[in-house]
Parts: sequence; structure tokens; C-alpha cells
Amino acid sequence: MNITEELEEIKQKCQTCKKCSLSKTRTKVVFSGGIPNKKLMLIGEAPGYYEDKEGVPFVGKAGQLLDRIFASVGLSRENDVYICNTIKCRPPENRDPLPEEKEACKEYLDAQISILKPRIILLCGRVAVNSFLNTNTGISKIRGKWFDGPYDSKMMPIFHPAYLLRNDNRNIGSPKWLMWKDIQEIKRAYDLLN
Ligand code: URA
Ligand code: URA
Repeated sequence: MNITEELEEIKQKCQTCKKCSLSKTRTKVVFSGGIPNKKLMLIGEAPGYYEDKEGVPFVGKAGQLLDRIFASVGLSRENDVYICNTIKCRPPENRDPLPEEKEACKEYLDAQISILKPRIILLCGRVAVNSFLNTNTGISKIRGKWFDGPYDSKMMPIFHPAYLLRNDNRNIGSPKWLMWKDIQEIKRAYDLLN
């Protein structure tokens, strides 16, 4: 099986998952978006309202901003980035995923990572950061830094686009300004990959 087929097999399994109670309230499982590119993977938090309806990650307002951030350096989900979340089903009222939900869903995220073995993993927002980095340090202190990840990957925490929507100014040192710096560093590292 090639990578696409292996991911498809896990996806099929995930579609009917009943390992946690979010399976009772979800509309659609949100397994992944973008393309399976071994160079670049982004891990967000959890599906929201629109993602749950469409079965696709990052399609709401935050997702549209994410697309613009990628586009600012010539990257796109169509050509460059594999997108998923720490959990695949929407938590009611968009509350944070519970530890038992993350634990139940971990096999799917682990499979996505072990099949793709991405060289760069972007940890988008606090929930994704906490799933991989054993730290209490706030995201504003560690965003933009590279950490060692699974399968020799490099992981970088970045702000969540929903956070940027709530902090809209672009002054020097603002979250948006920092995000545009981070995406340039990400593109630089991406271009060095062969
Ligand atoms: N926020 C996320 O973290 N993931 C999505 O898929 C949508 C919004
Ligand atoms: N808090 C979050 O949850 N995400 C961010 O990106 C920043 C602060």
C-alpha cells in the first residue's frame, strides 16, 4: 500500500469510531484535509461547527485566515500541507477536548504521523502544543521555535488562527505580526527539504 491508501484505511476505520462520547453528538468525522505531503503537516485542535457539518478541517473563519497565512508565502492546502486535528470529532459548544477524548482519538493521530512521517509538524494552538510538548510555557513564549518531534521531524508551535482573529492588530510584536514572521521561517525550512 502507498501512503494515500494507508491513510485511507485509517480514515475508513475512524469514520465509524465510537470510542468516545463525541461520536454521539458529531455530524461528520473530520479526519484530514489538504494533501498527504511528507514535508508539511499541521495539527490543529478540534473540529468546530462548520468542520463538523462538512467533514473537512479548518473551513470556518479561522480556517480561511489559515489559508491566507499559508498563501502569503506561496503555500496551499491543495499543494503543500496535510491538515488534521488532535481529535476528529467536534466537542459540544467547541469546549476544549477532554483528556479521555484525546486519549481515545490518539490512535488516529498517531497513525497519521507514523504513516506520513512528516518532516515539519506545525502545532497550531495551545491544545495541539500540549499534546506533544511537555511544557507549561505559554504558546506566546515558544511559538516560532523548533522542537524535535517524532520520526526525526521538526515541530514548531504557532498561534491558532482563531486567536489571531481575536487579536486583530498588526503592530510590531503583535500576534499577527509574529505569525507572519513564523510562516516565513516555516517556508524557509520547507524550501530546504528535498
Ligand atoms: N479549529 C481547529 O483547531 N481545527 C479545525 O479544524 C477548525 C477550527
Ligand atoms: N491561546 C490559544 O489557545 N491559542 C493560541 O494560539 C494562543 C493563545
